[in-house]
Amino acid sequence: MKAVVQTNFDDSVSAYDAYERQTGRFTALARLLAAEMSARVDGPFAAVLDAGAGTGVSTRVFADRAQRTVALDLSREMVRELESAPRVEGDFDHLPFVDGTFDGVAFTASLFLVPDPAVAVREAVRVLRPEGVVGAVAPLGWVDADGRDVFADLERESRSPTGADAVEAALADEFTVTTGTWRFSTTAADVRRFHAIPAMAARLYPTLDADERVAKARDLLDGLEGTVEQRWRWIVGVAE
Ligand SMILES: C[S@@+](CC[C@H](N)C(=O)[O-])C[C@H]1O[C@@H](n2cnc3c(N)ncnc32)[C@H](O)[C@@H]1O
Repeated sequence: MKAVVQTNFDDSVSAYDAYERQTGRFTALARLLAAEMSARVDGPFAAVLDAGAGTGVSTRVFADRAQRTVALDLSREMVRELESAPRVEGDFDHLPFVDGTFDGVAFTASLFLVPDPAVAVREAVRVLRPEGVVGAVAPLGWVDADGRDVFADLERESRSPTGADAVEAALADEFTVTTGTWRFSTTAADVRRFHAIPAMAARLYPTLDADERVAKARDLLDGLEGTVEQRWRWIVGVAE
Protein backbone atom coordinates (compact mmCIF):
# COMPACT_ATOMS: atom_id res chain seq x y z
CA MET A 1 0.00 0.00 0.00
CA LYS A 2 2.76 2.49 0.92
CA ALA A 3 4.79 1.59 -2.16
CA VAL A 4 1.69 2.32 -4.25
CA VAL A 5 1.13 5.69 -2.54
CA GLN A 6 4.80 6.53 -3.03
CA THR A 7 4.70 5.67 -6.74
CA ASN A 8 1.45 7.55 -7.21
CA PHE A 9 2.95 10.71 -5.74
CA ASP A 10 6.29 10.21 -7.54
CA ASP A 11 4.20 10.37 -10.74
CA SER A 12 2.27 13.45 -9.60
CA VAL A 13 4.80 16.28 -9.22
CA SER A 14 3.98 18.37 -12.29
CA ALA A 15 0.19 17.88 -12.11
CA TYR A 16 0.23 18.65 -8.36
CA ASP A 17 2.19 21.86 -8.94
CA ALA A 18 -0.13 22.86 -11.79
CA TYR A 19 -3.22 22.28 -9.62
CA GLU A 20 -1.73 24.30 -6.79
CA ARG A 21 -0.75 27.18 -9.09
CA GLN A 22 -4.31 27.28 -10.45
CA THR A 23 -6.25 26.86 -7.21
CA GLY A 24 -3.99 27.60 -4.22
CA ARG A 25 -6.07 25.02 -2.35
CA PHE A 26 -3.30 23.28 -0.41
CA THR A 27 -1.77 26.63 0.54
CA ALA A 28 -5.18 27.68 1.88
CA LEU A 29 -5.53 24.45 3.88
CA ALA A 30 -2.03 24.76 5.35
CA ARG A 31 -2.64 28.40 6.32
CA LEU A 32 -5.89 27.55 8.06
CA LEU A 33 -4.29 24.60 9.85
CA ALA A 34 -1.24 26.65 10.86
CA ALA A 35 -3.54 29.32 12.32
CA GLU A 36 -5.46 26.72 14.38
CA MET A 37 -2.23 25.17 15.64
CA SER A 38 -0.61 28.53 16.42
CA ALA A 39 -3.63 29.57 18.47
CA ARG A 40 -2.78 26.73 20.87
CA VAL A 41 0.87 27.65 21.57
CA ASP A 42 2.55 30.56 23.32
CA GLY A 43 4.50 32.52 20.71
CA PRO A 44 6.02 31.14 17.50
CA PHE A 45 6.88 27.48 17.04
CA ALA A 46 10.51 26.54 17.70
CA ALA A 47 10.43 23.51 15.41
CA VAL A 48 7.66 22.09 13.22
CA LEU A 49 7.63 18.78 11.40
CA ASP A 50 5.69 19.00 8.12
CA ALA A 51 4.73 15.33 7.88
CA GLY A 52 3.80 14.45 4.28
CA ALA A 53 5.24 17.69 2.94
CA GLY A 54 4.84 16.88 -0.74
CA THR A 55 6.46 19.54 -2.92
CA GLY A 56 6.65 21.92 0.02
CA VAL A 57 3.39 23.87 -0.23
CA SER A 58 2.61 23.35 3.45
CA THR A 59 6.30 23.60 4.41
CA ARG A 60 6.47 27.18 3.14
CA VAL A 61 3.38 28.09 5.17
CA PHE A 62 4.73 26.60 8.40
CA ALA A 63 8.18 28.09 7.80
CA ASP A 64 6.58 31.54 8.22
CA ARG A 65 5.46 30.58 11.73
CA ALA A 66 8.36 28.50 13.02
CA GLN A 67 12.01 29.10 13.71
CA ARG A 68 12.73 25.77 12.02
CA THR A 69 10.57 23.61 9.76
CA VAL A 70 11.53 20.12 8.61
CA ALA A 71 9.82 18.60 5.57
CA LEU A 72 9.34 14.83 5.48
CA ASP A 73 7.73 12.84 2.69
CA LEU A 74 7.56 9.27 1.41
CA SER A 75 7.88 10.38 -2.21
CA ARG A 76 11.40 11.22 -3.34
CA GLU A 77 10.12 13.02 -6.42
CA MET A 78 7.73 15.22 -4.44
CA VAL A 79 10.14 16.21 -1.69
CA ARG A 80 13.07 16.87 -4.04
CA GLU A 81 11.08 19.86 -5.38
CA LEU A 82 11.69 21.57 -2.08
CA GLU A 83 14.90 23.55 -1.88
CA SER A 84 14.70 25.84 1.12
CA ALA A 85 13.83 23.76 4.21
CA PRO A 86 15.62 20.72 5.59
CA ARG A 87 13.99 17.80 3.81
CA VAL A 88 13.88 14.13 4.65
CA GLU A 89 12.70 11.27 2.50
CA GLY A 90 10.88 9.08 5.01
CA ASP A 91 7.73 7.52 6.38
CA PHE A 92 5.76 9.29 9.09
CA ASP A 93 5.02 5.88 10.60
CA HIS A 94 8.77 5.60 11.46
CA LEU A 95 10.08 9.06 12.13
CA PRO A 96 13.88 9.42 12.02
CA PHE A 97 13.97 11.91 14.92
CA VAL A 98 14.71 11.58 18.61
CA ASP A 99 11.96 12.02 21.21
CA GLY A 100 10.80 15.57 21.88
CA THR A 101 12.33 17.17 18.76
CA PHE A 102 9.34 19.31 17.73
CA ASP A 103 6.69 21.53 19.27
CA GLY A 104 4.40 21.14 16.25
CA VAL A 105 3.65 18.23 13.91
CA ALA A 106 1.44 19.03 10.91
CA PHE A 107 -0.21 16.56 8.54
CA THR A 108 -1.67 18.75 5.79
CA ALA A 109 -3.72 16.38 3.62
CA SER A 110 -1.45 13.43 4.32
CA LEU A 111 -2.47 11.38 7.37
CA PHE A 112 -5.51 9.87 5.65
CA LEU A 113 -3.22 8.19 3.11
CA VAL A 114 -2.08 5.41 5.45
CA PRO A 115 -4.18 2.35 6.36
CA ASP A 116 -3.77 2.90 10.10
CA PRO A 117 -3.25 6.55 11.13
CA ALA A 118 -2.77 5.47 14.77
CA VAL A 119 0.82 4.41 14.01
CA ALA A 120 1.82 7.87 12.76
CA VAL A 121 -0.08 9.54 15.60
CA ARG A 122 1.96 7.56 18.17
CA GLU A 123 5.12 8.64 16.36
CA ALA A 124 3.92 12.25 16.50
CA VAL A 125 3.41 11.89 20.27
CA ARG A 126 6.95 10.57 20.60
CA VAL A 127 8.67 13.36 18.65
CA LEU A 128 6.56 16.12 20.22
CA ARG A 129 7.60 18.02 23.32
CA PRO A 130 5.14 17.78 26.23
CA GLU A 131 3.43 21.08 25.33
CA GLY A 132 3.38 20.22 21.63
CA VAL A 133 0.52 20.57 19.15
CA VAL A 134 -0.51 18.27 16.34
CA GLY A 135 -2.71 19.18 13.37
CA ALA A 136 -4.27 17.27 10.49
CA VAL A 137 -6.52 17.96 7.53
CA ALA A 138 -8.42 15.15 5.80
CA PRO A 139 -10.82 15.24 2.83
CA LEU A 140 -14.59 14.91 3.17
CA GLY A 141 -15.24 15.08 -0.58
CA TRP A 142 -17.41 17.27 -2.79
CA VAL A 143 -21.12 17.96 -2.38
CA ASP A 144 -23.67 19.70 -4.61
CA ALA A 145 -26.09 22.46 -3.60
CA ASP A 146 -28.41 19.84 -2.04
CA GLY A 147 -25.59 18.42 0.07
CA ARG A 148 -25.32 15.26 -2.06
CA ASP A 149 -21.94 13.63 -2.76
CA VAL A 150 -21.19 14.58 -6.37
CA PHE A 151 -19.58 11.17 -6.91
CA ALA A 152 -22.57 9.21 -5.56
CA ASP A 153 -24.01 8.33 -8.97
CA LEU A 154 -20.78 8.23 -10.92
CA GLU A 155 -19.53 4.79 -11.97
CA ARG A 156 -15.99 4.21 -10.85
CA GLU A 157 -13.86 1.34 -9.56
CA SER A 158 -13.48 2.50 -6.01
CA ARG A 159 -15.57 4.23 -3.40
CA SER A 160 -12.46 4.75 -1.37
CA PRO A 161 -13.19 6.11 2.09
CA THR A 162 -11.74 9.54 2.75
CA GLY A 163 -10.37 8.41 6.08
CA ALA A 164 -11.34 11.61 7.94
CA ASP A 165 -13.12 9.68 10.71
CA ALA A 166 -10.15 7.34 11.19
CA VAL A 167 -7.76 10.30 11.35
CA GLU A 168 -9.89 12.06 13.94
CA ALA A 169 -10.31 8.89 16.04
CA ALA A 170 -6.58 8.17 16.03
CA LEU A 171 -5.77 11.72 17.15
CA ALA A 172 -8.50 11.71 19.80
CA ASP A 173 -6.95 8.57 21.34
CA GLU A 174 -3.74 10.45 22.13
CA PHE A 175 -4.67 14.14 22.34
CA THR A 176 -7.43 16.46 23.46
CA VAL A 177 -8.76 17.42 20.05
CA THR A 178 -10.75 20.23 18.50
CA THR A 179 -12.19 19.68 15.06
CA GLY A 180 -14.24 21.41 12.39
CA THR A 181 -15.01 21.55 8.67
CA TRP A 182 -13.63 23.92 6.06
CA ARG A 183 -15.79 24.45 2.97
CA PHE A 184 -14.56 25.80 -0.36
CA SER A 185 -16.72 26.78 -3.29
CA THR A 186 -15.08 24.91 -6.15
CA THR A 187 -15.67 24.93 -9.90
CA ALA A 188 -16.32 21.74 -11.82
CA ALA A 189 -13.16 22.56 -13.78
CA ASP A 190 -11.16 22.49 -10.52
CA VAL A 191 -12.63 19.10 -9.59
CA ARG A 192 -11.37 17.89 -12.97
CA ARG A 193 -7.96 19.53 -12.36
CA PHE A 194 -7.74 17.80 -8.98
CA HIS A 195 -8.28 14.43 -10.64
CA ALA A 196 -5.71 15.21 -13.32
CA ILE A 197 -3.20 14.52 -10.51
CA PRO A 198 -2.40 10.79 -10.85
CA ALA A 199 -2.33 10.28 -7.06
CA MET A 200 -5.83 11.78 -6.78
CA ALA A 201 -7.26 9.89 -9.76
CA ALA A 202 -6.09 6.74 -7.93
CA ARG A 203 -8.96 7.18 -5.47
CA LEU A 204 -11.32 6.51 -8.41
CA TYR A 205 -9.33 3.96 -10.44
CA PRO A 206 -6.70 2.40 -8.17
CA THR A 207 -5.84 -0.47 -10.51
CA LEU A 208 -5.10 1.50 -13.69
CA ASP A 209 -1.73 2.97 -14.57
CA ALA A 210 -1.24 6.70 -14.17
CA ASP A 211 -2.10 7.85 -17.72
CA GLU A 212 -5.12 5.57 -18.04
CA ARG A 213 -6.56 6.51 -14.68
CA VAL A 214 -6.22 10.23 -15.34
CA ALA A 215 -7.89 9.79 -18.75
CA LYS A 216 -10.76 7.77 -17.21
CA ALA A 217 -11.22 10.37 -14.46
CA ARG A 218 -11.36 13.11 -17.12
CA ASP A 219 -14.10 11.17 -18.98
CA LEU A 220 -15.99 10.46 -15.75
CA LEU A 221 -16.04 14.12 -14.75
CA ASP A 222 -16.65 15.50 -18.22
CA GLY A 223 -20.33 16.24 -17.55
CA LEU A 224 -19.83 17.96 -14.20
CA GLU A 225 -20.90 21.61 -14.38
CA GLY A 226 -21.17 24.71 -12.23
CA THR A 227 -19.82 24.92 -8.71
CA VAL A 228 -19.72 22.37 -5.92
CA GLU A 229 -18.50 22.54 -2.36
CA GLN A 230 -15.28 20.82 -1.37
CA ARG A 231 -15.12 19.93 2.32
CA TRP A 232 -12.13 19.15 4.52
CA ARG A 233 -12.11 18.18 8.17
CA TRP A 234 -9.45 19.74 10.38
CA ILE A 235 -8.34 18.29 13.68
CA VAL A 236 -5.94 19.92 16.12
CA GLY A 237 -4.71 18.15 19.23
CA VAL A 238 -2.87 19.18 22.36
CA ALA A 239 -1.23 16.76 24.77
CA GLU A 240 -3.63 15.46 27.45
C1 LIG B 1 -1.89 15.51 -0.84
S1 LIG B 1 -0.15 15.57 -0.60
C2 LIG B 1 -0.01 16.94 0.51
C3 LIG B 1 1.34 17.57 0.44
C4 LIG B 1 1.55 18.85 1.25
N1 LIG B 1 1.31 18.67 2.67
C5 LIG B 1 0.72 20.00 0.74
O1 LIG B 1 0.00 20.60 1.53
O2 LIG B 1 0.81 20.30 -0.46
C6 LIG B 1 0.11 14.19 0.50
C7 LIG B 1 1.59 13.83 0.69
O3 LIG B 1 1.68 12.86 1.75
C8 LIG B 1 2.76 11.98 1.44
N2 LIG B 1 2.63 10.73 2.21
C9 LIG B 1 1.67 9.78 2.11
N3 LIG B 1 1.91 8.79 2.99
C10 LIG B 1 3.05 9.13 3.65
C11 LIG B 1 3.82 8.50 4.69
N4 LIG B 1 3.47 7.31 5.20
N5 LIG B 1 4.93 9.13 5.15
C12 LIG B 1 5.31 10.33 4.62
N6 LIG B 1 4.63 10.97 3.63
C13 LIG B 1 3.51 10.38 3.16
C14 LIG B 1 2.62 11.78 -0.08
O4 LIG B 1 3.81 11.29 -0.66
C15 LIG B 1 2.25 13.20 -0.54
O5 LIG B 1 3.37 13.94 -0.94
